[in-house]
Amino acid sequence: MRILLVDDNRTNLMFLSKLIEKIDGCEAVSFDDPAGALAQMPKLDFDIAVVDYQMPGYNGVEFLREINLFEKYQEKPYVMVTADRDLATRMACLDAGSIDFLTKPVIPLEFQARLRNLVALVDARNKLADKAEWLRMGIEKATEEIRSREEEIINRLSLAASYKDSDTALHTHRVANYSAAIAEAMGLSPDICSDIRLASPMHDIGKVGIRDAILLKRGKLTEQEYAEMQAHTTIGSDILNRSKSSLLRLAAEIAGSHHERWDGQGYPRRLSGEDIPVAGRIVAVADNFDALTTSRPYKEAWTVEKAVDHISSKAGTQFDPSCVAAFLFALPKIKEIKIKASEESLPTRFASCS
Ligand code: C2E
Ligand code: SIN
Ligand code: SIN
Ligand code: FE
Repeated sequence: MRILLVDDNRTNLMFLSKLIEKIDGCEAVSFDDPAGALAQMPKLDFDIAVVDYQMPGYNGVEFLREINLFEKYQEKPYVMVTADRDLATRMACLDAGSIDFLTKPVIPLEFQARLRNLVALVDARNKLADKAEWLRMGIEKATEEIRSREEEIINRLSLAASYKDSDTALHTHRVANYSAAIAEAMGLSPDICSDIRLASPMHDIGKVGIRDAILLKRGKLTEQEYAEMQAHTTIGSDILNRSKSSLLRLAAEIAGSHHERWDGQGYPRRLSGEDIPVAGRIVAVADNFDALTTSRPYKEAWTVEKAVDHISSKAGTQFDPSCVAAFLFALPKIKEIKIKASEESLPTRFASCS
C-alpha cells in the first residue's frame, strides 16, 4: 500500500517514513514540500495520505482541498499531523476530508496502530470494490451469453422453417432487413429496431404446420386450402408464445399479427388500426414487398416499381399508412438491401448450420 507523506520538516519526514516502512506491505512516498507533491499528484496513486498541518505555501487543509480536485483521490483516507490543539483548526481539517488526527510529537506506537487501522480499512474497501466489479462483469457476461444463445436459437428456428422451401432462408433474411429499415424510418428506438430485425425472420415459422400439398401448390389455392394456410399465423404464435425471452414473445406477436390488415379485413383475428402490434404492421409491409418482388410456386416476381405502386395504393386499407410512408422513405435503402441479398448466397449466420 502506498502512503503519501508530506512534511516540511525533514527530520520528521525521515522519522515517519521509517515508521511506515516497518508496517507490512506499506511503502512511503515522501515529499518535504506540498507544491512538489501536488506537481506529481496525477501519477502518485497513493492509498492513504499523512499530511503535516503547518507547512509553508499550503497548510494541511489547503493541501487536502487541492488533492480533492482529483476524483481518484476523493475517497482516500487522510491523517493530519498537527501540533495545534485548537478546535477550529481540527474542524477545518475534518471539513477538508481528514478522517484522523495525530498530535505532535508523534508517538511511534500510536502512529503505527492508527496507520494499521487505516490500512485494514482501505483493504476492506478495495476487496468490496473488487467483488462488486467482479460480480458486475459476471452479470454482464452472463447477459451477453443469454442474448447470443437467444439469437442462435432464433436463427436455428428460422433455419428449421426454411427446409420447407429452398428460398425461405433468403426471404426471411431480406424481410428482417426491410423490417428494420422501415422501423428505423418510423423513428423507433435502436433497441426496438434491432429486436424487430432479430424477431421478424420467424414470422412464417407456422408454415411448418401446413401441408406441403398446399404450401408448394403450383397455382391458386382453393378457399378451403387458403383457410388452412391462414393457420400459419396462429401456429407460429403458438410455437413462440409465452416464452421468458422477450425476443421470442416479440416474434410470437409478429407471427400472429403479420397478416392482419389496417382496415380489419385480415387474419387471424381481424384486428384493425393500432390494435395490431406495430411490429406486425411493419413486417406486413416488408413481407408483402418481398413476396411481390420474388417468384413463388404460384406466381412470378413483380418489378420493384409495380410492387411499390401496389403497396402505396394499399396504404390505409391493407397497410398502416405510417408504415407505408416509412417504407417509401426507406426505399433507397430497401433497394440496396434487395440488390445485396441477390448477390449473396445464404446469409453467413446460417452458414455454420447447414
Ligand atoms: P407468401 O407467398 O410469403 O405471401 C405473403 C403475402 O404477400 C400474401 O399473404 C399476400 O398478402 C402477398 N402476396 C404474395 N403474392 C401476391 C400477389 O401475387 N398479389 C398480391 N396482391 N399479394 C401477394 P396471403 O395472401 O395471406 O398469403 C399467405 C401465404 O399463403 C403466402 O405467403 C403463400 O405461402 C400462401 N399463398 C397465398 N396465395 C397462394 C396461392 O395462390 N397459391 C399458393 N400455392 N400459395 C398461396
Ligand atoms: C415463407 O416465408 O415461408 C414463404 C415464402 C416462400 O415461399 O419463399
Ligand atoms: C397472438 O400473438 O396470438 C396474436 C397477436 C396479435 O394479433 O395481436
Ligand atoms: Fe405469412
